[in-house]
Amino acid sequence: MSIASFPEGFVWGVSTSAFQIEGATSADGRGPAIWDAFSADRAEACDHYHRYPEDVQLMKDLGMAAYRFSVSWARVFPEGAGKANPAGLDFYDRLLDELLAAGITPYATLYHWDLPQALEDAGGWPSRDTARHFADYAAAVCERLGDRVDTWFTLNEPWVAAFLGYGSGIHAPGRKSAAEAFKSAHHMLLAHGLGAQALRSAGAAKVGAVLNISPVMTPAQVSDFGRELSEEDAEAVARIDALVNRQFLDPMLRGEYPADLLPIIERSAGLNHIQEGDLETIAQPIDLLGINYYTPSVVQAQPSEPADPAFPGSEGILFCTIPTAVTAMGWPIVPNCLSLLLRRISREYPDIELMITENGADFVDVVTGDGIHDMERISFIEEHLRALRSAIADGARVRGYLVWTLLDNLEWADGYQRKFGLVHVDFGTQRRRMKDSALWYRDVIRRNGLVETRPKRPTLETVAARARVSRATVSRVVNGEASVSPDVRATVMRVVQELGYVPNAAARSLVTRRTNTIALVLSVPRHGGDPLTAAVVQYVTSMLEGAGKQITLMLADTAESHRRIVQHVEARLVDGVVLLPPDRADTLAERLSRTGVPIVLLGKPAIASLVPYVDVDNAGGAAAATEHLLALGRRHLGMICGPMDLVAVQDRLAGHRAALQRAGLQPLLALADLTRPSGAAATRRLLGDDPALDAVFAATDQLAIGALRAAREAGRRVPEDLAIVGFDDIDAASATTPGLTTVRVPVADQALALARLLLSRLEGRHTTSVVLPTRLVVRDSA
Ligand code: FCB
Repeated sequence: MSIASFPEGFVWGVSTSAFQIEGATSADGRGPAIWDAFSADRAEACDHYHRYPEDVQLMKDLGMAAYRFSVSWARVFPEGAGKANPAGLDFYDRLLDELLAAGITPYATLYHWDLPQALEDAGGWPSRDTARHFADYAAAVCERLGDRVDTWFTLNEPWVAAFLGYGSGIHAPGRKSAAEAFKSAHHMLLAHGLGAQALRSAGAAKVGAVLNISPVMTPAQVSDFGRELSEEDAEAVARIDALVNRQFLDPMLRGEYPADLLPIIERSAGLNHIQEGDLETIAQPIDLLGINYYTPSVVQAQPSEPADPAFPGSEGILFCTIPTAVTAMGWPIVPNCLSLLLRRISREYPDIELMITENGADFVDVVTGDGIHDMERISFIEEHLRALRSAIADGARVRGYLVWTLLDNLEWADGYQRKFGLVHVDFGTQRRRMKDSALWYRDVIRRNGLVETRPKRPTLETVAARARVSRATVSRVVNGEASVSPDVRATVMRVVQELGYVPNAAARSLVTRRTNTIALVLSVPRHGGDPLTAAVVQYVTSMLEGAGKQITLMLADTAESHRRIVQHVEARLVDGVVLLPPDRADTLAERLSRTGVPIVLLGKPAIASLVPYVDVDNAGGAAAATEHLLALGRRHLGMICGPMDLVAVQDRLAGHRAALQRAGLQPLLALADLTRPSGAAATRRLLGDDPALDAVFAATDQLAIGALRAAREAGRRVPEDLAIVGFDDIDAASATTPGLTTVRVPVADQALALARLLLSRLEGRHTTSVVLPTRLVVRDSA
């Protein structure tokens, strides 16, 4: 057996983080942290706080040389600053002793996103004080534990903590401000510098930081790195690279911000928070840079694109979906990008020693009687290790590799549904079970390398043999043919899952006939029986059935149902998918589009992609409604907005704002959910805010009907005192007194356009999104 070896002394191990595994969030005086309240899930996690001896034993059994964990700041300083809590430090003291006794080298991260709530309440990372408190915390921890830790990492992935925590708000603490995100990023860098100084004074052996580095490229470059770019695309790539990568690399390793980033920071946040001397502090010499790599960022120039809130300053850049294999998280699997990025870092920052501090994958695991056969995870890690080895051969100075992660855990905003562990955790019983990937990794560690021949992926033949059926039968099941009996289908599907078999093109083409089935995937309507959804189901069904297709209705209401739907589509049990309405920023649309099966969406998705959709001109309709009110001489306009995470609501607000701006007026807004009572309540608030209010534009008819009621109760005549306009033209709109002026969205046209779009996609024709015009319907209310 020939071995592709790694350098002698190469460090193998795993990484974890405190909040994701420890649980025990109020044990022994731990204070609250920002993720406690933000996470919708039980914080018990893996109960590692109590079960750490078992977890260390697992690592020992697997032959791990290194373990990177993080310290919970709120255990050490329950109030973030001030009085330390010795009992919190005791836990890490026990853990370190246990690790050393097992022969495992500890690497400790001081900040893996779990800021003490008290510090968030005092201003959080946008406040400079947080960086100073961090340095005190670093000193206290190092004084107590420094004698046993090999390397201290100050921060984990500051880009994520700053821009998802304070920019897009999808991570704790959930703030949404570009200015705060940039300030947070700077203060995290400062915390790193001050922390590194504090660690050195407290006698730390080695100091480093961990960054998420994501190679940035266009879709065409994914398969051809050397590809020449247009000037616009090159600019888009450079801008995202500055935001994600160089914003942190350059200050830490060169003592300067990238010149092309400063104007972007200045536009959102000014530059006053970057004080004299900060950059020298940030650029403390470090011994090791930890790199977390999962997937590249794929972008291209697209002039009309608004900025993505996680990337303030990214106007005119589209984040693209690419047709590659993906993990269950929807992240494209591109192992070569790991070598690409290591070569780049080694070239541009030649002095720094590197370690891969996280790399791994979320895949759907199936627990069977004889184990968890997670072939996909093994292939993922193996392919990345091959890429790593080739970068090392080219001279990259990489000291070690840590898998993310030891245990299935609490994956931040995604909760327990994500499975990144080498070890499976049953969260009902806390039982740990090694997956095949754990045993495979143990062998890699033992031989310090990979076997030259790749482990064989299960083939069609393996499935056929285990299920005791013919290859053609397997192929028929994979292709969703109706001619297979339900029993046989169930057996084959079970074996497919057990083996982690991924059907390839050959299996699919054994039987070429199409399934002639279309999946119509419905999310649960946010509010009661949504008439648009009902109409679309009716029209799409009759039109596609007319074209000889069968329709399978699938309800996407839970994470589990999302998983099943993706599997169903991946197994090619349908020819196409109509998804409606993807109103929340979830990844179902993205995951479905990556299966390669044609998909169309109702409504513009929250995350821009190349998937075609049908929408109505929400902004244009709202502008027309607003202009109508202005033309009636109204000058005191209020708008009732629905939930702002609905893309349609965002667009309606944008149209309203634009029309007001043209008239030189300021918007007056009230937020509501989607119900009539909340429309009424919002109207009362608007009347309170501006007693001269003479017009209301509501984002939906339901809200407008609530407004009519509130106007009546407040003794205002409609339209004389208060003109009211709605949006959607639902049936009830013509039956109100007075009749409601509203914006009509073409329900049937949307449905027909959706069906047509899908049919063209099925025929392989080029398709683009469709935006249908809306029309103002004037009745008596305005
Ligand atoms: C990284 C985080 C880690 C985990 C993995 C999947 O960004 O550092 O905690 O969430 O992603």
